[in-house]
Amino acid sequence: MPFRQGSARTRQRTVLLVGIVVLLAALVLAVVLASILTHGKPEGSPEMLKWKDRGTTKNLQEVILGRCYNYVMARHSELGDKDCLKIWESLKEAFIYKNPCNITSEDYQPLMELASHPIPCNKSLFWSKTNDLAHRYTKSNQNFFTLEDTLLGYMADRVSWCGDPSAPGINYESCPKRSECESNPVSVFWKLASKMFAEAACGVVQVMLNGSIEAGAFKSSSIFGSIEIFNLNPDKVSAVHVWLMHDIGGPQSESCSGYSIKRLRSILEERNFQITCEDNYRPVQLLQCVHNPEHTDCRLCTNSTAAP
Ligand SMILES: *[C@@H]1O[C@H](CO)[C@@H](O)[C@H](O)[C@H]1NC(C)=O
Ligand SMILES: *[C@@H]1O[C@H](CO)[C@@H](O)[C@H](O)[C@H]1NC(C)=O
Ligand SMILES: *[C@@H]1O[C@H](CO)[C@@H](O)[C@H](O)[C@H]1NC(C)=O
Ligand SMILES: *[C@@H]1O[C@H](CO)[C@@H](O)[C@H](O)[C@H]1NC(C)=O
Repeated sequence: MPFRQGSARTRQRTVLLVGIVVLLAALVLAVVLASILTHGKPEGSPEMLKWKDRGTTKNLQEVILGRCYNYVMARHSELGDKDCLKIWESLKEAFIYKNPCNITSEDYQPLMELASHPIPCNKSLFWSKTNDLAHRYTKSNQNFFTLEDTLLGYMADRVSWCGDPSAPGINYESCPKRSECESNPVSVFWKLASKMFAEAACGVVQVMLNGSIEAGAFKSSSIFGSIEIFNLNPDKVSAVHVWLMHDIGGPQSESCSGYSIKRLRSILEERNFQITCEDNYRPVQLLQCVHNPEHTDCRLCTNSTAAP
Protein backbone atom coordinates (compact mmCIF):
# COMPACT_ATOMS: atom_id res chain seq x y z
CA MET A 1 0.00 0.00 0.00
CA PRO A 2 2.64 2.62 0.95
CA PHE A 3 4.52 1.70 -2.26
CA ARG A 4 1.47 2.18 -4.50
CA GLN A 5 0.57 5.44 -2.80
CA GLY A 6 4.13 6.74 -3.36
CA SER A 7 4.04 5.77 -7.02
CA ALA A 8 0.75 7.61 -7.55
CA ARG A 9 2.25 10.70 -5.96
CA THR A 10 5.29 10.47 -8.20
CA ARG A 11 3.06 10.21 -11.27
CA GLN A 12 1.10 13.27 -10.09
CA ARG A 13 4.32 15.17 -9.57
CA THR A 14 5.59 14.19 -13.03
CA VAL A 15 2.37 15.37 -14.67
CA LEU A 16 2.59 18.66 -12.77
CA LEU A 17 6.26 19.13 -13.76
CA VAL A 18 5.55 18.38 -17.44
CA GLY A 19 2.65 20.85 -17.30
CA ILE A 20 4.88 23.57 -15.88
CA VAL A 21 7.60 22.92 -18.46
CA VAL A 22 5.08 23.11 -21.34
CA LEU A 23 3.63 26.32 -19.91
CA LEU A 24 7.10 27.87 -19.56
CA ALA A 25 8.02 26.84 -23.12
CA ALA A 26 4.82 28.44 -24.43
CA LEU A 27 5.61 31.62 -22.48
CA VAL A 28 9.16 31.83 -23.85
CA LEU A 29 7.83 31.28 -27.37
CA ALA A 30 5.26 34.03 -26.91
CA VAL A 31 7.91 36.48 -25.63
CA VAL A 32 10.25 35.63 -28.52
CA LEU A 33 7.44 36.03 -31.06
CA ALA A 34 6.33 39.34 -29.54
CA SER A 35 9.88 40.70 -29.59
CA ILE A 36 10.32 39.64 -33.24
CA LEU A 37 7.01 41.26 -34.16
CA THR A 38 7.67 44.57 -32.39
CA HIS A 39 11.23 44.64 -33.76
CA GLY A 40 9.80 44.57 -37.26
CA LYS A 41 7.87 47.79 -36.61
CA PRO A 42 9.35 51.18 -37.60
CA GLU A 43 10.86 53.44 -34.90
CA GLY A 44 8.42 55.25 -32.56
CA SER A 45 5.02 53.66 -32.14
CA PRO A 46 3.32 54.11 -35.51
CA GLU A 47 -0.09 54.31 -33.90
CA MET A 48 0.78 57.75 -32.44
CA LEU A 49 -0.78 60.76 -34.14
CA LYS A 50 1.56 62.64 -36.49
CA TRP A 51 2.02 66.44 -36.32
CA LYS A 52 4.17 69.12 -37.92
CA ASP A 53 6.03 70.54 -34.91
CA ARG A 54 8.89 68.98 -32.97
CA GLY A 55 7.91 66.35 -30.44
CA THR A 56 8.13 66.39 -26.67
CA THR A 57 11.58 67.39 -25.40
CA LYS A 58 13.62 64.29 -24.57
CA ASN A 59 13.94 63.64 -20.84
CA LEU A 60 11.13 66.10 -20.20
CA GLN A 61 10.72 64.95 -16.60
CA GLU A 62 14.40 65.47 -15.78
CA VAL A 63 14.46 68.85 -17.55
CA ILE A 64 11.39 70.14 -15.68
CA LEU A 65 12.47 68.74 -12.32
CA GLY A 66 16.03 70.02 -12.74
CA ARG A 67 14.88 73.49 -13.68
CA CYS A 68 12.33 73.54 -10.86
CA TYR A 69 14.89 72.57 -8.21
CA ASN A 70 17.42 75.00 -9.63
CA TYR A 71 14.90 77.84 -9.49
CA VAL A 72 13.50 77.03 -6.08
CA MET A 73 16.68 75.94 -4.30
CA ALA A 74 19.43 77.99 -5.92
CA ARG A 75 17.98 81.07 -7.55
CA HIS A 76 14.98 81.97 -5.41
CA SER A 77 15.42 80.27 -2.09
CA GLU A 78 12.53 82.36 -0.73
CA LEU A 79 10.29 79.92 -2.67
CA GLY A 80 11.71 76.94 -0.80
CA ASP A 81 8.28 75.53 0.00
CA LYS A 82 7.47 74.73 -3.65
CA ASP A 83 7.10 70.99 -4.22
CA CYS A 84 8.87 70.27 -7.51
CA LEU A 85 7.70 66.64 -7.67
CA LYS A 86 4.08 67.70 -7.34
CA ILE A 87 4.66 70.44 -9.90
CA TRP A 88 6.02 67.91 -12.39
CA GLU A 89 3.12 65.53 -11.73
CA SER A 90 0.56 68.26 -12.29
CA LEU A 91 2.21 69.31 -15.56
CA LYS A 92 2.20 65.68 -16.70
CA GLU A 93 -1.43 65.17 -15.71
CA ALA A 94 -2.41 68.20 -17.79
CA PHE A 95 -1.55 66.49 -21.09
CA ILE A 96 -0.58 62.82 -20.74
CA TYR A 97 -2.80 60.39 -22.68
CA LYS A 98 -4.88 63.33 -23.95
CA ASN A 99 -5.59 64.32 -27.52
CA PRO A 100 -3.09 67.21 -28.00
CA CYS A 101 -5.71 69.32 -29.81
CA ASN A 102 -8.13 69.23 -26.93
CA ILE A 103 -6.30 70.92 -24.05
CA THR A 104 -8.04 73.53 -21.91
CA SER A 105 -7.01 76.07 -19.27
CA GLU A 106 -8.69 73.83 -16.68
CA ASP A 107 -6.14 71.12 -17.44
CA TYR A 108 -3.41 73.45 -16.16
CA GLN A 109 -5.26 74.84 -13.15
CA PRO A 110 -3.53 72.56 -10.59
CA LEU A 111 -0.10 73.36 -12.05
CA MET A 112 -0.78 77.11 -12.01
CA GLU A 113 -1.86 76.97 -8.39
CA LEU A 114 1.22 74.99 -7.33
CA ALA A 115 3.83 76.95 -9.26
CA SER A 116 2.71 80.58 -9.27
CA HIS A 117 4.31 83.07 -6.90
CA PRO A 118 4.06 86.83 -6.36
CA ILE A 119 6.21 89.31 -8.26
CA PRO A 120 7.34 92.53 -6.56
CA CYS A 121 5.52 95.70 -7.61
CA ASN A 122 7.24 97.83 -10.28
CA LYS A 123 9.32 94.83 -11.44
CA SER A 124 7.30 93.14 -14.18
CA LEU A 125 8.88 93.37 -17.62
CA PHE A 126 6.81 92.46 -20.67
CA TRP A 127 8.45 92.08 -24.06
CA SER A 128 7.58 91.50 -27.67
CA LYS A 129 10.13 90.73 -30.39
CA THR A 130 12.94 91.52 -27.97
CA ASN A 131 13.33 88.05 -26.47
CA ASP A 132 17.12 88.02 -26.32
CA LEU A 133 17.66 91.61 -25.17
CA ALA A 134 14.88 91.53 -22.56
CA HIS A 135 16.37 88.43 -20.97
CA ARG A 136 19.91 89.72 -21.10
CA TYR A 137 18.57 92.72 -19.24
CA THR A 138 16.85 90.71 -16.51
CA LYS A 139 20.00 88.60 -16.13
CA SER A 140 22.09 91.70 -15.52
CA ASN A 141 19.43 93.40 -13.40
CA GLN A 142 17.89 90.69 -11.28
CA ASN A 143 15.26 92.98 -9.83
CA PHE A 144 13.18 92.63 -12.98
CA PHE A 145 11.05 89.67 -13.97
CA THR A 146 9.91 88.64 -17.41
CA LEU A 147 7.50 85.71 -17.58
CA GLU A 148 10.51 83.49 -18.29
CA ASP A 149 12.06 84.67 -15.02
CA THR A 150 9.11 83.30 -13.03
CA LEU A 151 9.11 79.66 -11.96
CA LEU A 152 6.47 78.65 -14.53
CA GLY A 153 8.13 80.40 -17.43
CA TYR A 154 11.60 79.29 -16.39
CA MET A 155 10.60 75.61 -16.36
CA ALA A 156 8.84 75.74 -19.72
CA ASP A 157 11.16 78.06 -21.66
CA ARG A 158 12.07 76.49 -25.05
CA VAL A 159 10.68 73.14 -23.97
CA SER A 160 7.92 71.35 -25.86
CA TRP A 161 5.46 68.67 -24.77
CA CYS A 162 2.30 66.95 -25.92
CA GLY A 163 0.33 63.82 -25.21
CA ASP A 164 -1.22 61.05 -27.24
CA PRO A 165 -4.16 58.74 -26.48
CA SER A 166 -1.98 55.65 -27.03
CA ALA A 167 0.78 54.35 -24.72
CA PRO A 168 3.03 55.69 -23.28
CA GLY A 169 0.76 58.74 -23.45
CA ILE A 170 3.53 61.20 -24.42
CA ASN A 171 4.45 61.87 -28.05
CA TYR A 172 8.23 62.31 -28.42
CA GLU A 173 8.06 62.25 -32.23
CA SER A 174 5.86 65.21 -33.07
CA CYS A 175 3.46 67.76 -31.56
CA PRO A 176 0.81 69.99 -33.19
CA LYS A 177 1.74 73.41 -34.49
CA ARG A 178 -0.51 76.35 -33.62
CA SER A 179 -1.70 76.33 -37.23
CA GLU A 180 -2.80 72.70 -36.82
CA CYS A 181 -4.78 73.38 -33.66
CA GLU A 182 -4.90 76.28 -31.22
CA SER A 183 -5.70 74.15 -28.21
CA ASN A 184 -2.37 72.32 -28.11
CA PRO A 185 -0.63 71.83 -24.74
CA VAL A 186 2.17 74.37 -25.28
CA SER A 187 0.03 77.19 -26.71
CA VAL A 188 -2.62 76.80 -24.03
CA PHE A 189 0.10 76.80 -21.36
CA TRP A 190 1.75 80.04 -22.57
CA LYS A 191 -1.58 81.81 -23.04
CA LEU A 192 -2.61 80.97 -19.52
CA ALA A 193 0.81 81.71 -18.01
CA SER A 194 0.91 85.11 -19.80
CA LYS A 195 -2.57 85.96 -18.58
CA MET A 196 -1.65 85.14 -14.98
CA PHE A 197 1.66 86.99 -15.24
CA ALA A 198 -0.21 90.12 -16.40
CA GLU A 199 -2.90 89.76 -13.73
CA ALA A 200 -0.21 89.57 -11.06
CA ALA A 201 1.57 92.78 -12.11
CA CYS A 202 1.37 95.83 -9.87
CA GLY A 203 2.73 99.36 -9.67
CA VAL A 204 4.70 100.53 -12.70
CA VAL A 205 5.16 97.89 -15.38
CA GLN A 206 7.65 98.04 -18.23
CA VAL A 207 7.42 96.69 -21.73
CA MET A 208 10.38 96.35 -24.09
CA LEU A 209 9.41 96.64 -27.76
CA ASN A 210 11.44 96.39 -30.96
CA GLY A 211 11.62 99.66 -32.93
CA SER A 212 13.48 97.97 -35.77
CA ILE A 213 10.51 95.88 -36.86
CA GLU A 214 9.24 97.19 -40.17
CA ALA A 215 5.60 96.31 -39.53
CA GLY A 216 5.61 98.34 -36.29
CA ALA A 217 6.79 97.78 -32.74
CA PHE A 218 3.39 97.03 -31.28
CA LYS A 219 1.39 94.19 -32.79
CA SER A 220 -2.19 93.51 -31.64
CA SER A 221 -1.86 89.81 -32.41
CA SER A 222 1.23 89.29 -30.22
CA ILE A 223 0.89 87.72 -26.78
CA PHE A 224 1.54 91.15 -25.30
CA GLY A 225 -0.99 92.85 -27.59
CA SER A 226 -3.72 90.25 -27.38
CA ILE A 227 -3.44 88.82 -23.86
CA GLU A 228 -1.15 90.73 -21.54
CA ILE A 229 -2.40 94.31 -21.96
CA PHE A 230 -5.99 93.18 -21.46
CA ASN A 231 -5.19 91.36 -18.25
CA LEU A 232 -3.34 94.17 -16.49
CA ASN A 233 -5.44 95.19 -13.54
CA PRO A 234 -6.17 98.97 -13.50
CA ASP A 235 -6.66 98.81 -9.73
CA LYS A 236 -3.13 97.51 -9.24
CA VAL A 237 -1.11 98.88 -12.16
CA SER A 238 -0.53 102.63 -12.18
CA ALA A 239 1.56 103.15 -15.29
CA VAL A 240 3.10 101.40 -18.27
CA HIS A 241 6.60 102.42 -19.34
CA VAL A 242 7.48 101.50 -22.90
CA TRP A 243 11.15 101.01 -23.71
CA LEU A 244 11.41 101.17 -27.47
CA MET A 245 14.73 99.67 -28.47
CA HIS A 246 16.35 99.92 -31.90
CA ASP A 247 19.05 97.62 -33.15
CA ILE A 248 22.42 99.35 -32.92
CA GLY A 249 23.20 100.40 -36.49
CA GLY A 250 19.91 98.83 -37.58
CA PRO A 251 16.80 100.45 -39.05
CA GLN A 252 14.84 102.94 -36.93
CA SER A 253 11.52 101.75 -38.24
CA GLU A 254 9.51 103.36 -35.50
CA SER A 255 10.04 105.83 -32.67
CA CYS A 256 7.85 106.63 -29.69
CA SER A 257 5.76 108.95 -31.89
CA GLY A 258 5.15 106.15 -34.38
CA TYR A 259 1.87 104.76 -35.55
CA SER A 260 1.76 101.46 -33.66
CA ILE A 261 2.86 103.10 -30.40
CA LYS A 262 -0.04 105.55 -30.80
CA ARG A 263 -2.40 102.60 -31.06
CA LEU A 264 -0.89 101.03 -27.93
CA ARG A 265 -1.20 104.37 -26.15
CA SER A 266 -4.89 104.68 -26.96
CA ILE A 267 -5.64 101.09 -25.87
CA LEU A 268 -3.88 101.66 -22.54
CA GLU A 269 -5.35 105.11 -21.94
CA GLU A 270 -8.81 103.75 -22.59
CA ARG A 271 -8.15 101.26 -19.80
CA ASN A 272 -7.03 104.14 -17.52
CA PHE A 273 -3.31 103.44 -17.44
CA GLN A 274 -0.71 106.15 -17.69
CA ILE A 275 1.76 105.46 -20.44
CA THR A 276 5.23 106.79 -21.10
CA CYS A 277 7.54 105.82 -23.93
CA GLU A 278 11.30 106.17 -24.13
CA ASP A 279 13.38 105.58 -27.23
CA ASN A 280 16.49 103.51 -26.57
CA TYR A 281 16.25 103.39 -22.77
CA ARG A 282 19.87 103.85 -21.84
CA PRO A 283 20.43 101.04 -19.27
CA VAL A 284 19.23 98.57 -21.90
CA GLN A 285 21.10 100.22 -24.75
CA LEU A 286 24.33 99.85 -22.79
CA LEU A 287 23.80 96.09 -22.96
CA GLN A 288 23.38 96.27 -26.74
CA CYS A 289 26.60 98.26 -26.83
CA VAL A 290 28.54 95.37 -25.31
CA HIS A 291 28.38 93.87 -28.80
CA ASN A 292 28.89 97.20 -30.65
CA PRO A 293 31.34 99.22 -28.54
CA GLU A 294 32.64 101.23 -31.51
CA HIS A 295 29.30 102.44 -32.80
CA THR A 296 28.53 106.19 -32.45
CA ASP A 297 25.31 105.40 -30.52
CA CYS A 298 27.51 103.68 -27.97
CA ARG A 299 30.02 106.44 -27.36
CA LEU A 300 30.01 107.86 -23.88
CA CYS A 301 29.68 111.64 -23.76
CA THR A 302 32.79 112.20 -25.89
CA ASN A 303 33.15 115.93 -25.43
CA SER A 304 32.83 115.91 -21.65
CA THR A 305 35.46 113.23 -21.14
CA ALA A 306 38.24 114.81 -23.20
CA ALA A 307 41.51 112.96 -22.93
CA PRO A 308 44.17 114.82 -20.89
C1 LIG B 1 -12.02 66.91 -25.32
O1 LIG B 1 -11.96 67.09 -23.92
C2 LIG B 1 -13.21 67.10 -23.27
C3 LIG B 1 -12.99 67.41 -21.80
O2 LIG B 1 -11.69 67.18 -21.39
C4 LIG B 1 -13.90 65.75 -23.49
O3 LIG B 1 -15.17 65.75 -22.88
C5 LIG B 1 -14.02 65.49 -25.00
O4 LIG B 1 -14.55 64.21 -25.21
C6 LIG B 1 -12.68 65.60 -25.67
N1 LIG B 1 -12.85 65.50 -27.12
C7 LIG B 1 -12.00 64.77 -27.87
C8 LIG B 1 -12.27 64.81 -29.34
O5 LIG B 1 -11.06 64.16 -27.42
C1 LIG C 1 6.76 101.86 -7.60
O1 LIG C 1 7.08 103.00 -8.37
C2 LIG C 1 6.34 104.15 -7.97
C3 LIG C 1 6.66 105.27 -8.97
O2 LIG C 1 7.99 105.31 -9.30
C4 LIG C 1 6.70 104.52 -6.54
O3 LIG C 1 5.94 105.63 -6.14
C5 LIG C 1 6.40 103.32 -5.65
O4 LIG C 1 6.81 103.60 -4.33
C6 LIG C 1 7.09 102.09 -6.16
N1 LIG C 1 6.68 100.95 -5.39
C7 LIG C 1 7.54 100.09 -4.87
C8 LIG C 1 6.95 98.95 -4.11
O5 LIG C 1 8.75 100.19 -5.02
C1 LIG D 1 14.27 93.22 -33.48
O1 LIG D 1 13.74 92.25 -34.36
C2 LIG D 1 14.68 91.75 -35.28
C3 LIG D 1 13.93 90.84 -36.23
O2 LIG D 1 13.18 89.90 -35.52
C4 LIG D 1 15.79 91.04 -34.53
O3 LIG D 1 16.76 90.56 -35.44
C5 LIG D 1 16.45 92.02 -33.57
O4 LIG D 1 17.41 91.36 -32.77
C6 LIG D 1 15.40 92.64 -32.66
N1 LIG D 1 15.99 93.70 -31.88
C7 LIG D 1 15.97 93.76 -30.56
C8 LIG D 1 16.53 94.96 -29.94
O5 LIG D 1 15.49 92.86 -29.90
C1 LIG E 1 29.07 118.06 -27.17
O1 LIG E 1 29.04 117.97 -28.60
C2 LIG E 1 27.79 118.26 -29.18
C3 LIG E 1 27.89 118.06 -30.68
O2 LIG E 1 28.86 117.13 -30.99
C4 LIG E 1 27.41 119.71 -28.85
O3 LIG E 1 26.14 120.00 -29.39
C5 LIG E 1 27.39 119.89 -27.36
O4 LIG E 1 27.12 121.24 -27.05
C6 LIG E 1 28.70 119.48 -26.74
N1 LIG E 1 28.60 119.57 -25.29
C7 LIG E 1 29.54 120.12 -24.55
C8 LIG E 1 29.30 120.09 -23.07
O5 LIG E 1 30.56 120.59 -25.01
